[in-house]
Amino acid sequence: MPKRSSFSEKLMRWYCRCARNLPWRQTRNPYEIWISEVMLQQTTVNAVIPYYQRWVREFPTVQHAADAPLFKILKLWQGLGYYQRAKNIHKAAKVLCALHQGKIPADPNVLKNLPGFGPYTTGAVASIAFDIPHPIIDANIRRVIMRILAMKGYADASRDQEILAFLNKIMPSKKAATFNQSLMELGALLCRNRTPSCLLCPVKGDCRAYQKGVQEIIPQPRKRIMKDIDVAVGILRKGGKYFIQKRPSQGLLADLWEFPGGKIEEKETPVQALKREFREELGIAIASVKPLMHVRHSYTQFRVRLHVFLCQSQISVQEDSAHKWVRLFDLLKYPMPSGSARIVEKLQHPA
Ligand code: ADE
Repeated sequence: MPKRSSFSEKLMRWYCRCARNLPWRQTRNPYEIWISEVMLQQTTVNAVIPYYQRWVREFPTVQHAADAPLFKILKLWQGLGYYQRAKNIHKAAKVLCALHQGKIPADPNVLKNLPGFGPYTTGAVASIAFDIPHPIIDANIRRVIMRILAMKGYADASRDQEILAFLNKIMPSKKAATFNQSLMELGALLCRNRTPSCLLCPVKGDCRAYQKGVQEIIPQPRKRIMKDIDVAVGILRKGGKYFIQKRPSQGLLADLWEFPGGKIEEKETPVQALKREFREELGIAIASVKPLMHVRHSYTQFRVRLHVFLCQSQISVQEDSAHKWVRLFDLLKYPMPSGSARIVEKLQHPA
């Protein structure tokens, strides 16, 4: 009798036939794989590709990343979100140069002590770059395994111990890179969140959710509540230059540059909020304001609407390390939150 293929064999055979040809799959360079895996935690494969290509061009080695000013790293990361991750890459690159000759160690126990190396990054680099049989869980793998095991509940970390135990059981001793990526690929291409393509699935025979016909409700669908935030933004202009300020080094969108302004509180008009923010942040009164544009942007947890005004003040704000007057063209060099970058774009190309 022919030997029945194991789950991992069926999966990996499918992967070899059907996997997408992605730039980070053309390399075994651990540094490049590390960068791609951190970026892929932020957003979709298609959105990551240009960022990844730019990164390996600008910072081709660990040493280049370690030597780059944080400002340049954040500029390259602009639009990817979760800027703390970029800062951690920068920190880890410095540690790697100081302690490991700029090389990425293969040992997960060493990797996990580097800045920003949580369980996912540690396992992804160890397995994908070095074929070390180390299971990983990302959103795709979590969904795939929840379906294979017909696990009830939401797709959150609460079931990860069970998922890890299962992955450890089925993990092949060789080809961990192919195995882990084949699970992710299955989640991305066939075992999608909505409308999974079960008929094409190489492991449908092993899938309890498919057998019970409950694949569409595993994991249990959840409505995301998106908060809406209104923000007033003031553009100060002086002799062809625009005023921007650096956000604090801690907290949301830390160390990025933006035009002054802030959240419009309940019962406040945008102009009232703007005047209050200018008084509180910069200690100046605004003499006049003119509505300029509206910009919307969705971040992961909330949506912002920016109410943008051209402002004039009797007092000029002085420059220091966190406050700058910058020419329109040079604004492009500053790392900014996506909403602020959109304002710059609109200032450069008025409709
Ligand atoms: N998501 C996380 N890691 C990935 C990889 N290596 N390929 C495709 N998608 C991914």
